[in-house]
Amino acid sequence: MPQQSPETRKALRQRLRRARRQLSFSEQRHAALGLTRQLRHTGLWQGARHIAFYQAVDGEIVTLPALRLAWQQGKACYLPVLHPIKDDHMVFVRIWPGSRLAYNRWGIPEPKAALKHSVSPRRLDLVLLPLVGFDEAGNRIGMGKGFYDRTFAFRRGKCRRPALTGLGHECQKVAEGIAPSAWDVPLDALATPRRYKSIKNRKAL
Ligand SMILES: Nc1ncnc2c1ncn2[C@@H]1O[C@H](COP(=O)(O)OP(=O)(O)O)[C@@H](O)[C@H]1O
Ligand SMILES: [Mg+2]
Repeated sequence: MPQQSPETRKALRQRLRRARRQLSFSEQRHAALGLTRQLRHTGLWQGARHIAFYQAVDGEIVTLPALRLAWQQGKACYLPVLHPIKDDHMVFVRIWPGSRLAYNRWGIPEPKAALKHSVSPRRLDLVLLPLVGFDEAGNRIGMGKGFYDRTFAFRRGKCRRPALTGLGHECQKVAEGIAPSAWDVPLDALATPRRYKSIKNRKAL
């Protein structure tokens, strides 16, 4: 696949973000419920005890119904928080029903809880990542800051955990494919409100 220039990637990002922001409240609600139905019967979900969610912004698919299900099932749930020292990395803070959130410097709500509740990314079983764009091979475009790529760079080696599952709306699919950059961390699975796809041909799996 030809390299996508940074400009192409930027234009693609803008188009995909606009598409997901245009979804109505009711479409978003149905999408979140559909997504939960897709996730709940998968081996990765059922086997996971420690799951990282995200707080949806900018039309991202909402994870709240999945989060409630995980709590009901007794799973430990986490949200990403910007790393206090390591620039552009994240740590994961455990959240419970009613945990208080506060906006971080990117306008994304994150738990106010003390970092003593945080765990290293390596301790998670399953990470649900927000997508801006995806393709069928498990390549991902994010918001363009590379936070997940940096935090999970260790997954490019032999390490198999945590499993990385990208969540998106169908309108975020890039039919022509996404040319990954050297630092991009590929997905192990994809979930949309309509389907779940395990990506098996990854080197590390
Ligand atoms: N492991 C890493 N180490 C250093 N820089 C990184 C790493 N991963 C990503 N980056 C930087 O983050 C920036 C954004 O990455 P990109 O993949 O375009 O964003 P996103 O994954 O959010 O779509 C890139 O300029 C890249 O150089
Ligand atoms: Mg990337």
